[in-house]
Amino acid sequence: MSGVEELLTSLTLALVAICLYLRLVKWKRKKKKKKKNLPPGCGGWPFLGETLAYLKPHSATSIGQFMEHHISRFGKIYRSNLFGEPTIVSADPGLNRFILQNEGRLFECSYPRSIGGILGKWSMLVLVGDMHRDMRMISLNFMSSTRLRTRLLPEVEHHALLVLRSWEEGSPFLAQEEAKKFTFNLMAKHIMSMEPGKPETEKLKREYVTFMKGVVSAPLNFPGTAYWKALKSRSSILKVIERKIEERFQTGGNEGGGTQEDDLLGWVLKQSNLSMEQILDLVLSLLFAGHETSSVSIALAIYFLAGCPEAVRELKKHVRNHTDDEAMQFHVLNEWFQAEHLQIVRSKKQRGDQAGLNWEDYRQMEFTQFVISETLRLGNVVRFVHRKALRDVRYKGYDIPSGWKVLPVFAAVHLDPSLYGDPQQFNPWRWQQKGCSGGATMGSNYMPFGGGPRLCAGSELAKVEMAIFLHHLMLSYGWELAEPDQPLAFPFVDFPKGLPIRTFHLSPVCGVRKLSLCCVCVVTSKWA
Ligand code: HEM
Repeated sequence: MSGVEELLTSLTLALVAICLYLRLVKWKRKKKKKKKNLPPGCGGWPFLGETLAYLKPHSATSIGQFMEHHISRFGKIYRSNLFGEPTIVSADPGLNRFILQNEGRLFECSYPRSIGGILGKWSMLVLVGDMHRDMRMISLNFMSSTRLRTRLLPEVEHHALLVLRSWEEGSPFLAQEEAKKFTFNLMAKHIMSMEPGKPETEKLKREYVTFMKGVVSAPLNFPGTAYWKALKSRSSILKVIERKIEERFQTGGNEGGGTQEDDLLGWVLKQSNLSMEQILDLVLSLLFAGHETSSVSIALAIYFLAGCPEAVRELKKHVRNHTDDEAMQFHVLNEWFQAEHLQIVRSKKQRGDQAGLNWEDYRQMEFTQFVISETLRLGNVVRFVHRKALRDVRYKGYDIPSGWKVLPVFAAVHLDPSLYGDPQQFNPWRWQQKGCSGGATMGSNYMPFGGGPRLCAGSELAKVEMAIFLHHLMLSYGWELAEPDQPLAFPFVDFPKGLPIRTFHLSPVCGVRKLSLCCVCVVTSKWA
């Protein structure tokens, strides 16, 4: 054999070997793939998958047709194609918990890129790993329980009263906007010492309305779209925050009697070594996280408590069936609720305590905590969160492939009839029953604030805000819907008409309509 022939033969053999090797690898991969036991489901349309059906607006107190249909067809864990990615959807409380507890190990937070574009790449919602941990520590420090008791609670009461006092009896107004005013003013003050009613605060509030519409819209970035407008608002908001930072540098943080140092901005500037870009994203996203969710929750509580006659009748029946106390049988939900708040006012009076509400008063709002838990269960402000699998994971015999999107859907658990009897019913008493009350905040089937290492950093603050606002609302007003409205999931929860209500004053003694006495005036002139 000549040298050339030898070379050709060796090359041919090498080529055949490579081909065989590649075929073997391909076959092995195929075999491995074949062996995967993916949850049942379907992929829908190319690229779009089933996203449009999944996001189709529906009543916030239901799981919507898509989830209902998929759960009944495939079970509580199913496969789909959502947000342009192969996805595992979970309505299974065990898997939801497993996903959240294994953050950073098996799963990782993974919101659509458009969210990062609008909230910023340093926003806590999109950060992972060490940087997330550091930013989280700053937020937790700032909302520590000591701070909550001493600094935040009085601020919460002050801002709640400011809004409630401005309500005009008899004329309809939008309760959702009022709740937003309350939570936004509180956050703006707490984060940057911005005072309510001042032109710069009002401008910032307006920018946030546009900003919010973009956060929840399709990420189409061309002139005129909601997303494009929101990006513009983002720039304006960042300019305001930047101006505030410059002012701090100029005044040394001492303007306003030293109170500024006690806000989040002052704290971050002094105690952290974050860059300007990081501070801007942190402040912007905390302002966002801190006022949107809690204002919707307050609006939901107002809506549920206004209630429908059947709910009240049902609740009456429930009380009759579940209490030995004869007197209790005549109370309906709002009366129960109001009685608790009147009791707090009376006890303070008896003690000669003329100051505003304190932590002990807050701790006495036991039934209010049930109302809050029930509002968050039924209203599902955050219906699901975005995660992705970091490696192949096996759960209950199903395979979740590495890189796949994973959506733990809290709403589907909260509205699951096998876990919560009569789940569509607003029934705060369910939290009082054995096994529920202790777990009202931490129960394994209850996750309105998420869980694991990314548990909502503001969950305690949110509950204080809701409780204090409801306390003064219940003491002062009765209310009714001025027009029919209902919470819809877009999937963010919103009242299409803004929840128009009409208020009337209540007598603080008997809790009936009484036009001549305003309890806000009575209570606040004495204790505020
Ligand atoms: C009722 C009102 C609220 C609800 C239902 C709620 C719900 C949630 C949920 C479900 C998460 C987890 C997101 C995820 O895992 O991907 C979260 C995270 C967060 N929330 Fe809230 N939230 C509320 C109020 C607040 C308030 C008042 C603040 C105060 C600033 C706040 C600050 C945050 C922050 C900073 C995070 C990110 C935590 C992290 O990634 O470590 N939230 N919230």
